[in-house]
Amino acid sequence: MGTHLHITTWVIGIILFFVTYSMLKNGSPKAKMMHMITRLFYLLIFITGGMLITDFGEYAVKMIVGIIVIAAMEMVLVRTKKGKAVSAMWALFIVALIFVLYLGLSLPQGLDWF
Ligand code: HEM
Repeated sequence: MGTHLHITTWVIGIILFFVTYSMLKNGSPKAKMMHMITRLFYLLIFITGGMLITDFGEYAVKMIVGIIVIAAMEMVLVRTKKGKAVSAMWALFIVALIFVLYLGLSLPQGLDWF
């Protein structure tokens, strides 16, 4: 099966995250529904990533950083909804995302760019 399913879920999940973010910003009545769908994709990212784990020692860091990306996305959304400061969560999202892309693309399965 390879890594395609995992890549598909995180690409869609990140797109849904940005869509939900702009809907919350604009006070769209559909934002709550989009947020629920985004959360479903967090789960799908986690499941498809989990299915790729063949050796926990090798993949533990990848898994933890992947979970941090998801947590940062959720905190950006919840804090935006509550009108709280989000810049620290955006910074966490960007740094963790770059790190997890680097890790994923240097680990042995699928694409091996680094
Ligand atoms: C938004 C969060 C995530 C992003 C952006 C992401 C990104 C990536 C990328 C770019 C790859 C490499 C795909 C390839 O080389 O074809 C990958 C592979 C992988 N991911 Fe994720 N991931 C995320 C979350 C997770 C989570 C939560 C887990 C664990 C539960 C996980 C586990 C894995 C594993 C085990 C691999 C295989 C690594 C390899 O040997 O190449 N990922 N991920």
